[in-house]
Amino acid sequence: MFNRPRMHRSRPPLPGSASRRTVLWPFVISLTVVLMVSAVKQEDFKTCAQSGFCTRNRAYAELASGTPDWESPFRLDPTSLQLEDGVLTGDLIHAPTSSSSSAESGGALNAGYTIEVHLLDSDAVRVRMNERDPKRRRYDGLQKSVLVKPLVSSTQYDQLGRDEDGLFTINYGSRRQNSARIRFAPFQIEFLADGVSTLVLNEGGLLKIEAAQVWSDVADTRTRTPMERRLEQGMWSERFKDIIDTKPRGPESFGLDITFPDIEDVYGIPEHASSLSLKTTRGPGAQYNEPYRLYNLDVFEYEIDSPMALYGSIPFMLGHSKDKTAGVFWMNAAETWIDIEKIESTSGSSRRTTRTHWYSEAGVLDLFVFLGPTHRDIFKQYSSLVGTTALPQSFSIGYHQCRWNYISQKDVIEVDAGFETHEIPYDVLWLDIEHTNGKRYFTWDPKQFPDPFDMQLHLANKGRKMVTIIDPHIKMDRGYHISKEATDKSLFVMNNHLKPFDGWCWPGSSQWIDFENPRAKDWWASQFSYDRYKGSTNTLFTWNDMNEPSVFTGPEITLPKDAMHYNRVEHRSIHNIYGAMFHAATAQGLSTRNETLQRPFVLSRAFFAGSQRYGSVWTGDNKASWEHFEVAAPMLLTIGLAGLPFSGADVGGFFGDPEPELLTRWYQAGAFYPFFRAHAHLDSKRREPWLFGEPYTSQIRAAIRTRYSLLPFWYTLFQEASMDGVPIIRPMFFEFPSDEATYRMEDQFMVGEALLVKPVTTAGATQSEVYFAGNEKWFEFYDGQVKQGPGVQSVSSPAYKIPVYQRAGTIVPKRETPRRSSKEMENDPFTLVVALDSKGEAYGRLYLDDGESYEYSRGDYILREFKVQGSVLTSRSLNRQESETEWSFIRRYSSLKVERIVFQGLSEPVSRVVIDGRPTVVESWHDVAGKQHVVIVSRANLSIGQDWSVSLS
Ligand code: NOJ
Repeated sequence: MFNRPRMHRSRPPLPGSASRRTVLWPFVISLTVVLMVSAVKQEDFKTCAQSGFCTRNRAYAELASGTPDWESPFRLDPTSLQLEDGVLTGDLIHAPTSSSSSAESGGALNAGYTIEVHLLDSDAVRVRMNERDPKRRRYDGLQKSVLVKPLVSSTQYDQLGRDEDGLFTINYGSRRQNSARIRFAPFQIEFLADGVSTLVLNEGGLLKIEAAQVWSDVADTRTRTPMERRLEQGMWSERFKDIIDTKPRGPESFGLDITFPDIEDVYGIPEHASSLSLKTTRGPGAQYNEPYRLYNLDVFEYEIDSPMALYGSIPFMLGHSKDKTAGVFWMNAAETWIDIEKIESTSGSSRRTTRTHWYSEAGVLDLFVFLGPTHRDIFKQYSSLVGTTALPQSFSIGYHQCRWNYISQKDVIEVDAGFETHEIPYDVLWLDIEHTNGKRYFTWDPKQFPDPFDMQLHLANKGRKMVTIIDPHIKMDRGYHISKEATDKSLFVMNNHLKPFDGWCWPGSSQWIDFENPRAKDWWASQFSYDRYKGSTNTLFTWNDMNEPSVFTGPEITLPKDAMHYNRVEHRSIHNIYGAMFHAATAQGLSTRNETLQRPFVLSRAFFAGSQRYGSVWTGDNKASWEHFEVAAPMLLTIGLAGLPFSGADVGGFFGDPEPELLTRWYQAGAFYPFFRAHAHLDSKRREPWLFGEPYTSQIRAAIRTRYSLLPFWYTLFQEASMDGVPIIRPMFFEFPSDEATYRMEDQFMVGEALLVKPVTTAGATQSEVYFAGNEKWFEFYDGQVKQGPGVQSVSSPAYKIPVYQRAGTIVPKRETPRRSSKEMENDPFTLVVALDSKGEAYGRLYLDDGESYEYSRGDYILREFKVQGSVLTSRSLNRQESETEWSFIRRYSSLKVERIVFQGLSEPVSRVVIDGRPTVVESWHDVAGKQHVVIVSRANLSIGQDWSVSLS
């Protein structure tokens, strides 16, 4: 049995400014203790009413809905339109009509705006609006960090010009299947897919662009009505608690409504602890009072079922219905709120229309519209802009063991030994902040971790890795090399007086690296070289935490919005991408620290659109409760739908102590999260998988071993996601897009297209209701029992397993021998589990490479397609087969074998199996209900690198 090490309680965080530190000390400790035990402190975070621009934009929407015959005051000047090389430009004029005139707010609106509509080669359309002659230049530098490559204009479009209704139409796409129909007055753009209205901009007339300017520019002394006061709230400065946002640029927010006609369900815009299909925030019977908020924040023990902002933000939304799908990416990294309303359809459809209203505090209006036509096409289109998930190091899809904190080298060795003793596989052991020398990242506590090389070697000998935490707050200490160098090179974020900003975080008084500064990224990346990060080895990887960034003394526990970055960029404009820039710089550091490029592994808490290019994310500080466990599935599905598939939730719950049943159920579900890590708070009891005794140890072991047996399947899914941006775990509707019963289903999900997983999230439950979609069979993962879709069926879910089913028509590659780590499975043979559909067919793939380098991009990989048709299973290469390197890789791996093949769902008994011309002895059986015959080939001995066939008769 594992010996519990003595608890080491680290000094808690110290909110309070450096100068007040001594005085505040006792208060601070008690505040922190409260923080450690209580639930989310709502009052630490703004509501819409406490945010000026949120109030102003919501008030504008209220004014619109309360004004009969409301019309948007924006008009497009017909004489200004020009379409050249796929880009339409024109002048937008703000000319209030009588219905909207009271929306004039203190002269804070500009009269002239520009609009650009870019038709792109990916069939996406980019729409940009900006002030024509701004008094203050708006931030417009996001694309350098968000977009993967320069955009290419489409050549495939026809300009139809103005029709008799005065609408200006452009048809675009290879078949000219899409149209953008522009109305001049009031201004509106309607997007149609195959003639069907699919997404409309400004249909509700909520477009509003404030002019960036300061109070002296306006010098307006009018008296105001209450509505006018709301329309101007917080324009020139704003106080939250005792901190004042000085707003040196005045108001510069903008908002727009985006309508999804006859589409009732919209998804995306993570991160919120909310439902998969987004809830209404406006209109009669609204499910939330507050809009969904996107503002990366360190929200302690977050509330469930809430639109409150959390650690990450991806302003991507997908609208989906039986007959149409549309996506929108709102490219803005400032604080953003989104209202959602369901309104009656105007087309006569029985389905309601979803109207969304987006508003951001700063920057320019810059959005992308995707019309598919299928939801899969939308992921291709979106990811062609922001990138797909980086193919991870293969170890990183194994199991990760973490806690705050493994307190010493001895502790590490003992925990590692526990896994050996209990024969539980794992790949990575994690060290939280206490491993450092006084929270100075890139250092080790010399007493507790005297020999980090030896410790890493100890793990590496078993194919295991280590991860250490590196946060973006840098302890203010001239004796600390990182602090000194960053100061000397002027790489820190400044305050609004252009002096280095200092705030409070784990190390006490700290500063934050300015990743907007182009020199900062390379400098930060260089800190990961082995000679600078002393004690690091090539089996050491990184965890980026607190990168919203979390600032204990800042407004809403983050950097003030008027803090200043390189080139006079206000923090306000780039807040939501700060964490992703840090993540990117760390990933660069890990991939370049070796002589040849290696794939990095970096986990990040904050994220933005594009973070998938740098590594994985997790859902932050959840709680050991059944509710937090339950909400993890919709949260992860939503993050995946926003293009970031490599995500997980702390298994077991971060805060508190899970009862063993909850912990076990969480492991069983967590084994099907793309990122699978157990983690626990400093004050929680130890909970390594064997500490609760039987039957829990065996049940947790079985869950982790299931994960390991499926690693070939997971790795293949990651490769697919890295090519076309599809999520890895998928909502049911993703696989069954025309089945309306799945549109709000979030308590079960698909892993790829083959496996259905239903977490058991109720204490004591041993029976579960599972929805079997489609008209085909589903095969129970562990015993092959058959269920026939469609419909809900009650299935048994005893304590030792959760419902997992393989869909008919799929082939899942596995490796079945349990080993210590994924590395130790590298030479093991494969099993193919075939689940035949009613036509006797099935399809699957297997992807394989060295799991760590980028050599795959030169052809060093194996991609196989397995197919059953007409009672013959064939294996065929999908390699591009273009180069000799590719061939040599395939030859090298040819000794790897498919050893076992399980055919499920045969409608007839099989008497003869012939492998590449040789008859073979097999095992066969049929289930008692006579629903299927099963054949198992145990010694197939077929090379993974070659084509072959197995025929059944
Ligand atoms: C906050 C993170 O969310 C948590 O996972 C971590 O353990 C603590 N910071 C300490 O580093």
